[in-house]
Amino acid sequence: MVKWGSRQKVAKLSILVFASAVVSGCHTDMWYQAKVTPWDQDESGIFKDGASSRPIPKGAVAQGWDKLDDAHSTGFENGKLTNKFPAKLTLDGEVVDTNTDMVKVMKRGKERFHIACSHCHGELGDGNGMITQRGFVLKRKPANYHTDRLRQMPVGHFFDVMTHGYGIMLSQASRVEPDDRWAIVAYIRALQSSQHIKEFSPEDKKLMEEAAKKAAPTEEAHH
Ligand code: HEC
Repeated sequence: MVKWGSRQKVAKLSILVFASAVVSGCHTDMWYQAKVTPWDQDESGIFKDGASSRPIPKGAVAQGWDKLDDAHSTGFENGKLTNKFPAKLTLDGEVVDTNTDMVKVMKRGKERFHIACSHCHGELGDGNGMITQRGFVLKRKPANYHTDRLRQMPVGHFFDVMTHGYGIMLSQASRVEPDDRWAIVAYIRALQSSQHIKEFSPEDKKLMEEAAKKAAPTEEAHH
């Protein structure tokens, strides 16, 4: 065992004092350095107009999403829910024309719906998702999309529900990018019409038979 002599005690103490001075950072010169804060008058003379907050340089590219006050960004137009679907969406980095390439929009929407919504709302959107079936207890059940009210709701409503939440449902904005929300809206519309067909036309029946024939071999291949 080493016994601490008084000289060693002093040495130990001074190391402690020195270390705590370093850790606490006793220099304040960076804190008090000359600087201008936003919206301050700039007295350095660097900028002729004396404004500390500078305009955005020409050609600067916005990082993330620039939230505009239009139907595409909010789901609202002149204070009312829009029923217009955006003409162009950027899905997974690719610009998609929704008038000519709805299939791509649907595919993306289906995938995102399965990732972000179906565990609550169910794969059919009937409110019977897996966690609902397995005892997820809420004040109210996740909505069934196949009600007259929701069938008649403008597309903007679905975008807004995802953006801001609805009733006890939380906002999904942090999980689903804005344009992916529109893709999900398109997919919800498809779910709604698929669950609300009163009668098939002969052409539809023929198409379905053909589709079933085509689908059969790939179904087999999965098993
Ligand atoms: C954690 C479960 C959960 C998830 C995930 C979820 N929802 Fe919901 N959703 C709910 C619940 C619960 C309600 C009913 C809210 C209420 O009535 O207070 C609801 C309601 C809705 C409604 C009906 C609004 C109305 O006008 O009645 C829509 C549309 C909707 N959700 C869409 C979505 C979409 C799209 C997603 C995925 C991006 C999603 N939800 C993800 C639980 C969820």
